[in-house]
Amino acid sequence: MKLNYFYFKSLLYGLLHKYEASHYKKSLHFYPYRIGIELTNKCNLDCIHCIKKTKYKTGMMGFDEFKKVFNEFPYALSVSLNGVGEPLLHPRFFDIIKYIKHTRPYVITTIFSNGVLINESMAHEIIKSGLSKIHISLDATNASSHKKIRGTDKFDKVLNNIKTLVELKRKLHSKTPLIGINFILMKENEGELIEFIKLAKELGVDYICEIDSYLFNFGDWKLKSAGSLSSYKKELEVGKQELKKSGIKCMYYPELSKTYDWNKPFICDRFWKEIRVTFNGNVTPGCCIPFAEQYSYGNILESSFKGIWNSEKFIRNRESARKGTAPILICKECIEMMKKYLTL
Ligand SMILES: C[S@@+](CC[C@H](N)C(=O)[O-])C[C@H]1O[C@@H](n2cnc3c(N)ncnc32)[C@H](O)[C@@H]1O
Ligand code: SF4
Ligand code: SF4
Repeated sequence: MKLNYFYFKSLLYGLLHKYEASHYKKSLHFYPYRIGIELTNKCNLDCIHCIKKTKYKTGMMGFDEFKKVFNEFPYALSVSLNGVGEPLLHPRFFDIIKYIKHTRPYVITTIFSNGVLINESMAHEIIKSGLSKIHISLDATNASSHKKIRGTDKFDKVLNNIKTLVELKRKLHSKTPLIGINFILMKENEGELIEFIKLAKELGVDYICEIDSYLFNFGDWKLKSAGSLSSYKKELEVGKQELKKSGIKCMYYPELSKTYDWNKPFICDRFWKEIRVTFNGNVTPGCCIPFAEQYSYGNILESSFKGIWNSEKFIRNRESARKGTAPILICKECIEMMKKYLTL
């Protein structure tokens, strides 16, 4: 009874938040219903394209700290337990999922994982924990390109781990987690998109989570993996046909025909709609970019989210975003990238 009350109140607050956000209010009464909490930014891999190739401090969020952060958002409907890093490395990962399920069972829990650690016993724990969604970043269809991207020889292992999870879920007649795989177009995996779609079908995953052409390769990163626009375009066009043929669902696919009038100011709605808390409590917009301390709006382990959400800095950034000017320097480069890659 009490839970239903909380759930319906969360839905209502979510709608009210949507209203405030769509009107680009500079200060907001309601919180985002979709939040991200980075359990750790440590990782067992060192991928060629990863935004973690920076000088950020690394660490893990403690279990009590997690509870404090989670409870700052009593009306959240969905929580992604990622930032940078591998969430399955967190020693209390399953306690955290169980805690969420126990306190607010309707909250959707999602992780992105590199899939390396999912052996049979972990697959059991994942299913038993009630985690809602797991998205495995495969980005390759063969051992050679997987190694180039992930920096280590783990393709067969990851593929087997996906199969184990899919089969066990079937065997246990479990509805969760929904299993998705991802593919980010890069120079290193050029020409593999069709194979990837076929592989997703063969593996029997629930869906492809995202096929993305947008690679953060600016600001602190300066990565070299972004391919050419013309090759992406060609690949995505054929990929679209293959998706149709295979019938597999793809949650995000770059739009090939969408045209955005870039003469109009571009308003990045992250400053209203998303929030991500880093492992050490810094509150940042939901995108991957501003994870460094200099982009923090405040520390949620030291003060309440209420004050941070409408802090002077957040309001200032929303004002510039609303005018279409980049609120932080890095947004300028990001918007230039979006112009190129989001609407191919
Ligand atoms: C940062 S990782 C964290 C979760 C997990 N370690 C993984 O690899 O899935 C989350 C997703 O961000 C993607 N990613 C990493 N660096 C990126 C970049 N420079 N641009 C776009 N996506 C990136 C990864 O490929 C992965 O799909
Ligand atoms: S596995 Fe994920 S977090 Fe780790 S280096 Fe690769 S992309 Fe980055
Ligand atoms: S414009 Fe800024 S806030 Fe928006 S996605 Fe890019 S870096 Fe993130």
